[in-house]
Amino acid sequence: MSTERPLRLALFGSGRIGQVHARNMAAHPGIELALIADPFIDGARRLAEATGARAVQDPEEVFAEPGLDGVIIGSPTPTHVDLISRSAARGLAVLCEKPIDLDINTVLACREQIRGYTVPIMLGFNRRFDPSFAEVRSRVEAGEIGRLEQVTIISRDPAPAPRDYIASSGGIFRDMTIHDLDMARFFVPDIVEVSAVGSNVFSDEIKELDDFDSVTVTLRGSGGELITITNSRHCAFGYDQRLEAFGATGMLSAGNVTPTTVRKSGAEGTEESAPYLPFFLERYAQAYMAELDAFAHSIRTGAPCSPSFEDGVAALVLANAAAESALTGKTVSVAGANA
Ligand SMILES: NC(=O)c1ccc[n+]([C@@H]2O[C@H](COP(=O)([O-])OP(=O)(O)OC[C@H]3O[C@@H](n4cnc5c(N)ncnc54)[C@H](O)[C@@H]3O)[C@@H](O)[C@H]2O)c1
Repeated sequence: MSTERPLRLALFGSGRIGQVHARNMAAHPGIELALIADPFIDGARRLAEATGARAVQDPEEVFAEPGLDGVIIGSPTPTHVDLISRSAARGLAVLCEKPIDLDINTVLACREQIRGYTVPIMLGFNRRFDPSFAEVRSRVEAGEIGRLEQVTIISRDPAPAPRDYIASSGGIFRDMTIHDLDMARFFVPDIVEVSAVGSNVFSDEIKELDDFDSVTVTLRGSGGELITITNSRHCAFGYDQRLEAFGATGMLSAGNVTPTTVRKSGAEGTEESAPYLPFFLERYAQAYMAELDAFAHSIRTGAPCSPSFEDGVAALVLANAAAESALTGKTVSVAGANA
């Protein structure tokens, strides 16, 4: 049995993603979830009760708490850069949810502030930890399909988020596609070109907000690789999350996930099975746990974090380029800006 003391962590935010992180921390044998900070104290209290932590209303109390090793930032995006800088300045390791911020200048200013701090700073691009996607990537890296030529990423939400969420999301490229842009860089870190088109095919509400409900992005890697991302804000058959890596000697693909693998064949049809897991909380449950484990490993060993703050910067650079391309109809060069 390990005699190491558990890592003492605090959590900012007890909303949708905060609840995932809190429950995973509580279940992790090497972690003690000490504090949950949220101005919405009722939410923090409920979550603290369920996880054995202490709820605090004022996020400042996290910085006054002695003996913490790190924090997880699951509060709204506009709070991220301030909490990253202040946590790192106090020597606390950081796992921050995506995106770092919606404004690249704010992100670059944060990068300057944290320059020189040696604590791990990790970005919550959880899909890198999905067992299937991670396996495809490691088998590509091992050379199983020869030289990588194309990656196809499909990501469709089951239904659009509420109007208020869309209105403050920064647009589909910065809010939704950003996960897929990071996934693209997981396979091809050096992207040189971005082309994107957006459309409004089903939601007048999203159109009124000057955003797209449907987009396609094509990226070119420095080795000529082509990566295609397809996103929709709705999908009649659930949360559609698939990818395919195509190489000179073969292909590796990862499909959607159902709660069980039971399938029915009958006179009325074949291969009928249960619906796909409904949304990110269920589909990426294992990924969030593996992400937490990787964060704990970095804190304990000092191993570099992946995905890193710089991966967060690169994904936002690509999202901005995609938004520009969709607006102007031109391909945007990002050579040297995201590797
Ligand atoms: N990686 C993923 O799969 C994923 C999924 C969902 C959300 N996110 C990201 O997580 C962040 C939070 O999203 P959400 O959907 O959980 O939001 P949410 O609105 O459900 O929850 C946010 C919580 O943070 C609290 N809060 C506000 N200011 C705070 C502060 N200064 N300190 C501590 N708590 C504060 C709010 O009261 C609220 O309870 C966003 O940046 C979002 O982009 C990531």
